[in-house]
Amino acid sequence: MGKDILSVRDMQQDFEKIIDLAIDLKKERYRRYPEADNKTLAMIFEKPSTRTRVSFQVAMDQLGGHSIVLNPSDMQLGRGETIEDTARVLSSFVDVIAYRAFKHHNMVTLARNSTVPVINALDDIEHPVQMLADFMTIKEVKGKLSGLKLVYVGDGNNVTNSLLYACAILGINMIASTPQDFGPDPTIFMMAKEMAREKNAVLTISHDPANDMNGADVIYTDVWVSMGEEDRKERKERYFEGFQVNRQLIARARKDYMFLHCLPAHRGLEVSEEIIDGPNSYVFQQAENRLHTEKALLLWLLRNKNI
Ligand code: CP
Ligand code: NVA
Repeated sequence: MGKDILSVRDMQQDFEKIIDLAIDLKKERYRRYPEADNKTLAMIFEKPSTRTRVSFQVAMDQLGGHSIVLNPSDMQLGRGETIEDTARVLSSFVDVIAYRAFKHHNMVTLARNSTVPVINALDDIEHPVQMLADFMTIKEVKGKLSGLKLVYVGDGNNVTNSLLYACAILGINMIASTPQDFGPDPTIFMMAKEMAREKNAVLTISHDPANDMNGADVIYTDVWVSMGEEDRKERKERYFEGFQVNRQLIARARKDYMFLHCLPAHRGLEVSEEIIDGPNSYVFQQAENRLHTEKALLLWLLRNKNI
């Protein structure tokens, strides 16, 4: 319906504008906006969250609106009420819905049956709102986006899929450096590659992280085992030997590389303590920017989607 943010692609036209709005909002954290007056954001979390949940809640409050957090096990959803009916009912109470779901299919069902915008607050396919904070942080530090080289090392997951779209939109060259059988979604990779061509950017999948680091401006990693995959932990982690971001692995990156991680991190697994706590790590600036970018996204929705 064009009202929802289920994928990075749903922000394609205005992606950098939303980032620039966030950079502005960061300068005046406590300013209220009449557009948010009396507006309510409802959030449904099927999986745990610290950053997304708190940043969205504080964002809506600081803008001058209201927010409520819903846990499916406390809702009739947990007793078998359908997503379709839940969507219709919630739409009659609130103005925006953010949803963290196990299955992308359920995300789409909620969006199709809601009359208000639905924001994907992470599912098994994408994590679009994370991207705004990531690329805002890169823009703050590097002063530009287009033409940079980003190397993602680790598991090809929801974050990797969204990074591919975001790099394609922004004209950033990206290598997804993953173990052989743990690459990003192949369909998303093909689509993002096609989009990147228009921006003269190149997206690549590779399995040779130390080499891939050559000239990297940004090094990004995420957990090897995502939420909902815990039962695969033992079987999966052994494929990731050689994919830890540590001093040795990043030897060929640029001296002024930035290290990013969407967090939560597992120090000693996907990243060494030395790197995540080192001078080139911007992970806490990145986390703080979740707040400013959630505000920018909400304001952009309130202004542009007839809410
Ligand atoms: N990065 C991120 O989405 O963190 P949370 O799971 O804490 O929301
Ligand atoms: N890939 C991770 C991201 C957490 C913010 C997960 O889905 O668990």
